[in-house]
Amino acid sequence: MNKIIKKDQFSEKVFCLEVEAPLIAHSCKAGQFIILRVDKHSERVPYTIAKADDEKETLTLVVQEVGLSSTKLCNLNEGDYVQDIVGPLGNASEIKKFGTVVCAGGGIGIAAILPILTALHDAGNRVISVLAGRTKNLIIMEDDVRKGSDEVIIMTDDGSYGEKGVVTAGVEKVIQSEHVDRILAIGPPVMMKFTSLLAKKYNIPNYVSLNTIMVDGTGMCGACRLTIGGKTKFVCIDGPEFDGDLVNWDEMFKRMGTFKNVERKEMEHYEE
Ligand code: FES
Repeated sequence: MNKIIKKDQFSEKVFCLEVEAPLIAHSCKAGQFIILRVDKHSERVPYTIAKADDEKETLTLVVQEVGLSSTKLCNLNEGDYVQDIVGPLGNASEIKKFGTVVCAGGGIGIAAILPILTALHDAGNRVISVLAGRTKNLIIMEDDVRKGSDEVIIMTDDGSYGEKGVVTAGVEKVIQSEHVDRILAIGPPVMMKFTSLLAKKYNIPNYVSLNTIMVDGTGMCGACRLTIGGKTKFVCIDGPEFDGDLVNWDEMFKRMGTFKNVERKEMEHYEE
């Protein structure tokens, strides 16, 4: 079992949990994920690793209450235990010196992109991070992002923080002002799609992390099966990062809706 040693609330439905997981904290790489089971009866849910602390032997996870398992997890407190954590899983992000890299993070995707932008920065890249959210309190982990970036641009839909506008407006501003070698986007699928299309317009290699489509995260359920560049891929085994130009976005959106009804019924049962 793994102990929760710290819990913070970022916004109404978004929580940050630091959990003990020594072996994973020592070995995980940027871009990888874990599978967590809250209790014996819970499903196994994949979560991306926002931070790994080698000395404290902990992982930091950012969890949004969207269904039964994540709600149960967010209801736990410091000192409580989760049943088990498996990992690290998935392929690590490609980290090398590309030059100037724009890292676009939307919503809790900011937590997923944090270790990658930090590793890219450590590898000598000029990292420009564009953080986006509907409103100010959905811009999370800004201090951590600033530590791993040369420049940070904040975009909010309502203009309550940073500049008013969507993530692509911030990314395009960078593209028009300097040479960009690579773009990485992690966030809601629609945000990744349009960031990828923008990058394509300017012929910039771009990558997206499709982790939100995963269900069991082990290659068994088939929920994350997508057509990438005309070939069938499993996000949890072959990804979670892919060349954005090759993603079949229509298929991605269709698959994202597959379990909505089941999830809603589970929640109704839990709340009764
Ligand atoms: Fe189930 Fe990939 S998440 S097969």
